[in-house]
Amino acid sequence: MLLTLKAVEVLKGCNVLFAPTSREGRESMALSIVRPVIDERIRSREVEVRSLIFPMVKDKSRLEDVWRSNADEIARECLSGKVVAYLCVGDPSLYSTFTYMHRELSMRYPEIYVEIVPGITSFTSFASQAKMNLVEGEQIMAIVPACYDLERVRSIARSCDTIVFLKDGRYFSDVIRIVRESMSDDAYVAIAQDVGSEGEIITMSRLRDMDVSAVSKYFSMMVVKREHQGYMQSSRVCRVEGGDG
Ligand SMILES: C[S@@+](CC[C@H](N)C(=O)[O-])C[C@H]1O[C@@H](n2cnc3c(N)ncnc32)[C@H](O)[C@@H]1O
Repeated sequence: MLLTLKAVEVLKGCNVLFAPTSREGRESMALSIVRPVIDERIRSREVEVRSLIFPMVKDKSRLEDVWRSNADEIARECLSGKVVAYLCVGDPSLYSTFTYMHRELSMRYPEIYVEIVPGITSFTSFASQAKMNLVEGEQIMAIVPACYDLERVRSIARSCDTIVFLKDGRYFSDVIRIVRESMSDDAYVAIAQDVGSEGEIITMSRLRDMDVSAVSKYFSMMVVKREHQGYMQSSRVCRVEGGDG
C-alpha cells in the first residue's frame, strides 16, 4: 500500500485518528492501510483511533444527518485542543467521505484549521501496477462512478479515449454492455480488485471477451481504453495469490 511522506508525518503527530467505515464492527479500509505505521502509537495510547460510520445508502436526508453528527464528533476533539487526523483511501478530493466532513466543518466550525494532504489515487496506483498508461497526447479521460445513472456513460464513451470506473464492481457488467455499444467491442478493458493488497486481482482483455462474473467487490475499478497500445495484452490475467480475493 502507498502512503506519502507527508501522510506519515501527520499520522505520527496526531492525537486522535478518525477512520471512516461503512458498518459497525467493520475495520476501515483506510485504517488497515496505515496500521503498520501507527500500530505502536495505538498500543502505547499516544493516538486514539475512532471509527466513524458512513452507511452505504443513497438517501440524501439520512446521509446529511450522518455527515452532521460525524462532523460534530470530529469538531469536539479539535475544539478540545487535540491534533486530529481523518483517514481516507487514495486522494481526499476524489469520492471521499472527507469531502462531506470538510464541508460541514468549514460551514459550521470555521474556527477549526483544516490541512488537506493529497493522496495516491486508486486508479493511478492501479495503472502503475498494471504497467498501463492512462492517457497521452490529446487523449481525454473521464472518471465515472459506476453505481449511478448509466445513461450518462453512453455519451462519455463516445467522446472519451479512456474511462475509469470507480465505486462498486457489482455494476460493471451493466457498464460494459453500454460501453460496448457506445465505444467499441474492440476497446481494451482492465479490471482490478483490492489493488495493493495480498488479494489483488487484475484482469485485462478486449471488452467483448471480458468476463465480469468474478468481480463482486466494492473495492474494484475498471479502466476502458479505446486504443490498444500494445502494453495491454488480450486475455492476460495477473493474480497475486494468498489473499481472500
Ligand atoms: C469512495 S471511492 C474512493 C476513491 C479514492 N478516494 C481514490 O483516490 O481512489 C472508493 C472506490 O475507489 C476504488 N478503490 C479504492 N481503493 C481501491 C483498491 N485498493 N482496489 C480497487 N479499487 C479501489 C473502488 O472503485 C472503490 O469502490
